[in-house]
Amino acid sequence: MRYEDFVDLKYEPAHTDVICDFTIRPKEFDIRKAAGGVAAESSIGTWTELTTTKHYLKKLAAIVFSINGADVKVAYPIELFEPNNMPNLLSSISGNIFGLRALESLRLRDIHLPEKLIKSFRGPKYGIEGIRRLLKVYDRPLVGTIIKPKLGLKTQDHAQVAYEAWIGGCDMVKDDENLSSQKFNPFEDRVMQTLESRDRAEAETGERKTYMANITAETDEMVKRAEFVLEQGGEYVMVDIITCGFAALQTLRKRDFNLVIHAHRAGHAAFTKNPAHGISMNVIAKAARIIGVDQLHVGTVFGKMHETRKEVRANIKALKAKMSGLKQVFPVASGGLHPGLVPALTEFFGKDCVIQAGGGIHGHKKGTVAGAKAMRQAVDATVKRIPLRKFAQAHKELRVALQIWDKVL
Ligand code: 3PG
Repeated sequence: MRYEDFVDLKYEPAHTDVICDFTIRPKEFDIRKAAGGVAAESSIGTWTELTTTKHYLKKLAAIVFSINGADVKVAYPIELFEPNNMPNLLSSISGNIFGLRALESLRLRDIHLPEKLIKSFRGPKYGIEGIRRLLKVYDRPLVGTIIKPKLGLKTQDHAQVAYEAWIGGCDMVKDDENLSSQKFNPFEDRVMQTLESRDRAEAETGERKTYMANITAETDEMVKRAEFVLEQGGEYVMVDIITCGFAALQTLRKRDFNLVIHAHRAGHAAFTKNPAHGISMNVIAKAARIIGVDQLHVGTVFGKMHETRKEVRANIKALKAKMSGLKQVFPVASGGLHPGLVPALTEFFGKDCVIQAGGGIHGHKKGTVAGAKAMRQAVDATVKRIPLRKFAQAHKELRVALQIWDKVL
């Protein structure tokens, strides 16, 4: 079959097809041949006619069924994919095609998976509702922090900073993405000491507190670390889903631990940032939700991460929109946030989000307890619809935070 044979603009996709939305900028072909090339190379075709092809193969061909300028839709028969195998799916729809010389650029903008394929994965165990039940917080965004400095703190200092963040008002404390089990802060000691801090903070505040230990490692080791967290009384683990990979994430989810999975996406921008080429973050968000993460970083709009409103909105939709009965995933706003941004964040994300700040809490000039207090005060003010500047008159931690970071004062 030639590339053009993979185009049929009259084709109506079956409800079992996988649909992919691409933007294609050809270098060597017209758009029809280039689109056919994408469908061919991501299903049963190649650059030349084959002597090994069989009559029964034709029904497995991906079909380009829509071309609108550079925007192209391709339908893939479900039989092309092994159920419950995300690497397999991605090796087709986001595999070799990105390297084709004939294309100037190729963007996988969105994916739509049929129910049968989605149901072959586990999906989130807890999701938004499960996490709210765990934390017993129902009416406001959740407040999280990342221990800073991100690397280098000794275990007892890490556990102390966590304690201070919790008693100041954070619901969640997490490790940073590149903290695993370095000599200065080994994993097991860190989990034990930080969970001790959590217990103290819970006893002192009467609030539920959670610790997201970063278990990212080689897969067997990662699973062992998850078991350890569970044995020590932890309720959460954190995984760098891009660097450890979807296969590792599937393995972890398959173990079905009673642990909430917080997904960090460090590294995604290497292939999501260029709007003309690569894979959109909302595709990653859908894949992560289908496999079964409970929380995922989605960008900030107002913080230091680059994504536009439109992109972050698409990421949130990927986590929350109806999808074959899958639970909704908590969107996490993280990166360059501080208390002064809470009203704008809450208006954009709604109350079902995790607002996470590292520098915006531990950079408070009165220290971490004050930084966490300021963040909770900003959330409380926002929920009560009181302008931050007004609320800050009676709340000194917030006042100081606004002086440091916000242009309103
Ligand atoms: C993250 O994990 O998102 C970053 O460590 C955020 O850190 P920051 O709040 O200091 O930007």
